[in-house]
Amino acid sequence: MYDFRIEAAEKAELYRELIGAADALTAGEPDAIANMANVAALLWESLPDLNWAGFYRNVGGELVLGPFQGRPACIRIPFGQGVCGAAAATLEVQRIDDVHAFDGHIPCDAASNSELVVPIVRDGALLAVLDLDSPKTARFTAEDEAGCVKLAEILARAL
Ligand code: SME
Repeated sequence: MYDFRIEAAEKAELYRELIGAADALTAGEPDAIANMANVAALLWESLPDLNWAGFYRNVGGELVLGPFQGRPACIRIPFGQGVCGAAAATLEVQRIDDVHAFDGHIPCDAASNSELVVPIVRDGALLAVLDLDSPKTARFTAEDEAGCVKLAEILARAL
């Protein structure tokens, strides 16, 4: 049984614990789907105020839905479309305080108000994006971004 219950009071500590848990969960496991599934579950259980947490994989230059927690979501997203497609096309983090103000945002769940998308890159190539959605406007801070970027670095070795 895995028991990674993370209840840190501060965000910096929360992400230190999350990154340690993600490292432990994926260590020695070569299956990318299994690793994304466990990390999606870990994020969902550990981060407050989320309504979606998961991955889109780069499958031949198109984003395809991967393991996630939350409501069923759109399956395919072309590079350049929506928040996820913008992250995939630019390889840059998209931290969006208000998704309704983002031109081209793809609403998968009407409850979403803010979003953080982090590209997972190895040797300059996009493997997947990590996508977090929240019903709270401006839910994701620079600390969340920095923590998720470190998480993406761990995942780049585990996918
Ligand atoms: N809102 C995303 C689509 C994916 S869902 O949030 C799960 C976007 O605009 O790319």
